[in-house]
Amino acid sequence: MGTSIIIAIDGYSSSGKSSMARQLAAEIGYRYIDSGAMYRAVTLYAMRHNMINSDGSVVTELLIPALPSIHIDFSVNGDGTQSTMLNGENVEREIRSLDVSGHVSQVAAVPAVRHALVAMQKDMGTGKGIVMDGRDIGTTVFPEAEMKVFVTASPEERARRRLAELQAKGVEATYEEILENVTQRDHIDRTRAESPLRQADDAVLLDNTTMTLEQQNQFLLNLYNKITRK
Ligand code: DC
Repeated sequence: MGTSIIIAIDGYSSSGKSSMARQLAAEIGYRYIDSGAMYRAVTLYAMRHNMINSDGSVVTELLIPALPSIHIDFSVNGDGTQSTMLNGENVEREIRSLDVSGHVSQVAAVPAVRHALVAMQKDMGTGKGIVMDGRDIGTTVFPEAEMKVFVTASPEERARRRLAELQAKGVEATYEEILENVTQRDHIDRTRAESPLRQADDAVLLDNTTMTLEQQNQFLLNLYNKITRK
């Protein structure tokens, strides 16, 4: 066994990076952390406490002082899947709703929210042996990560995947509204002032528009083996 490393997987929304990251973690016996779920949980908290205006803007005067009372962790289910816990409540299903998806980019753009979550994420990586996916993992959370991948796919393909994912969960949505949500989130994520979505200079680019899940998993595993084989 080689030494444990940190693996950062960043990329666009619905690029399939979570599935890939989860699969890789299971395969190599690492802990998987979905950082997007943490931003979604804070968003759900803000929505429930009327901290989001009708135009989608965030009432930062209320949200920032509340941050210390927002506790997020992950519980591992019997089948190996994880559930996101918000102050002890399982919110895994609720944080995937279109409502939360529609507000999360604006919450994730609040610098104080990012500072609080990045600090939590850095803590989670102290023992290494971790795969974390998100937008700024290779650039801000773990700039020292030994393995960095930046995942992308066309917006249309990502909207199709997201639609299939929601339909499988019984959530009603149209392709058009999802494509709009995907495009809008890309724009906000790329243009925010605080750690915008961008490929780290030392990240490997993976465009999976025409790749199968199996091919992506193999790609990651090969890269992991190459990096850890000394
Ligand atoms: O990966 P996801 O779609 O669940 O992420 C939800 C939102 O959270 C996304 O719009 C961008 C934001 N996010 C972020 O800003 N930084 C991260 N490390 C992860 C997610």
